Amino acid sequence: MMSVEKRTKSVDLSHHLSELSKARPISPLKGLMKYFAQPGILALAGGLPSPAYFPVSDISANVLVPESFALSPTESSTSSMSWLWKLFGSHNATKEKTQAVTVPKYPVVKGEINLATSLQYGSAAAQGQLQDFLKHFISEVYRPAFEDWTALIDTGNTDGWLRAVTTLCNPGEGVLCEEWTYPSAIASMLPYNIKPVPVAMDGLGMKSDDLENLLSQWDPVSRQMPRPHVMYIVPVGQNPSGSTMSVARKKQIYDICVKYDVIIVEDDPYYFLQLGTYAFKDDRSPSATLSGKPSADESKQYVSTLAPSFLYFDYEGRVIRLDTFSKTIAPGSRLGWFTCNPVFAERLERQGETSAQAPCGFGQAVITKILTHWTYDGYIRWLRGLRTEYQQRRNFFIDCLAEEFHLHAVPAVAGVWEGCSVYQASSKVKKSARMTEKYSARNRTMFSFVPPVAGMFVWMRLHLDQHPSFVPGNEDTLETKLWTKLAENGVLFAPGWIFAANAIAEDSDNNDSGHFRISFSNAEFADLKNAVTIFGRVIREFFQEEDL
Ligand SMILES: Cc1ncc(COP(=O)(O)O)c(C=O)c1O
Repeated sequence: MMSVEKRTKSVDLSHHLSELSKARPISPLKGLMKYFAQPGILALAGGLPSPAYFPVSDISANVLVPESFALSPTESSTSSMSWLWKLFGSHNATKEKTQAVTVPKYPVVKGEINLATSLQYGSAAAQGQLQDFLKHFISEVYRPAFEDWTALIDTGNTDGWLRAVTTLCNPGEGVLCEEWTYPSAIASMLPYNIKPVPVAMDGLGMKSDDLENLLSQWDPVSRQMPRPHVMYIVPVGQNPSGSTMSVARKKQIYDICVKYDVIIVEDDPYYFLQLGTYAFKDDRSPSATLSGKPSADESKQYVSTLAPSFLYFDYEGRVIRLDTFSKTIAPGSRLGWFTCNPVFAERLERQGETSAQAPCGFGQAVITKILTHWTYDGYIRWLRGLRTEYQQRRNFFIDCLAEEFHLHAVPAVAGVWEGCSVYQASSKVKKSARMTEKYSARNRTMFSFVPPVAGMFVWMRLHLDQHPSFVPGNEDTLETKLWTKLAENGVLFAPGWIFAANAIAEDSDNNDSGHFRISFSNAEFADLKNAVTIFGRVIREFFQEEDL
């Protein structure tokens, strides 16, 4: 990994602020907030209820220990059983190991998280202990290349993106994004008349040469919009494609964004689910793991194995990074944070304080307590355990596909998977003589996929042109037919078209149909196995590889 030795202050990028954002005044009451923090101030200015009337005296929680999940599939874990046990339904065979934590109403130790402060009106930036934790976390994990970065909490990346896009974009503008992307991100900007501008992808995510061509040849007249100055990107465990961007590609994209003065909004919920390369069950070798105890050395070593954030290259302060606790603690916590330059942070904070004001105090209090109880090294240990859990899920799901289908790996030379080894799936030759004859006669590729190296999804391309009744143009009908058949048989996949960047834009002309996004993150292992068996039966029937 290249290192950025010298840190400088962010450059002035205030010309990117939208008219809406520039027009936003400071909330008059929130402007008084800094005085509330002054020791000894007799604060009679706000409409603050007395904490004596908060009906909660303390919040206690039993919290899993950071080393709850094993670091390798073979190591026993204190709270999660191996998938084999899960497969046979023995959930309670071992007991979870927890520790009790309490958030008191009033601080016992000065500065510690307490309900009198957390449940009170307060600053939109974050409670003190959470701010301190995040600052330490960002400087250890992401190591931004500019000096004056700021952390500001939000209610997760959905909120973060909406605030970022309306802070930066005016109606009629466009946002650069991957050609396949997270649909909610598009849905949140469309009503503001801010349109997606898709950039082609390959196996590493957004293509830098396509980005350069698009920006250098931009014609505002034919495009009917100015050259985009904002990018929305999901660089790790990309949703839906599962791709993860290399260090070199990130640096290229960053440099292009400097050249064309583009702000990068890095939406990175899957950063800690970097799962490594998939290998077939028989080819898997046990990975060498560190001891598994939280420690500064182990944290450092682990963090150095992760793909760097765009912040790592960001010597100008043109990245707004969105982090969330949704995938690492719980989505219902509705807590996340921005890391960005102080000018953007101030405008984003102003926007937050006139809508949600601040993320819910109960959630902030509990999460801050968990994090400070675990400490930074404990949280990193927790994240390492989660990674192994999702890695086992990914492996298990693809192992199931390998059992159900014949998988043949071929290198992709073009398209969304360029540079990757693509697994092409065809029917397995069955034992019965009748079927053997039939399968060997047909044996076509029904679908293909690249095992994801991060995230929660397998992105599957259906080879609809191999379908007996395929004619160019009827892909949508075939995709819907298969999707419906699967749903009727009790298996729900996400239809691919909803992830096309321009799918729900008014001028949608996307016709790249024939994809499913399959999530391996949540179902019981037995259900994953069942789903693959049903999928196998339905897709073979669909391709008329099997008579049911
Ligand atoms: C790319 C992406 N961004 C954002 C989110 C939502 O994040 P949050 O729960 O923090 O709003 C998701 C959730 O699936 C996602 O995949």
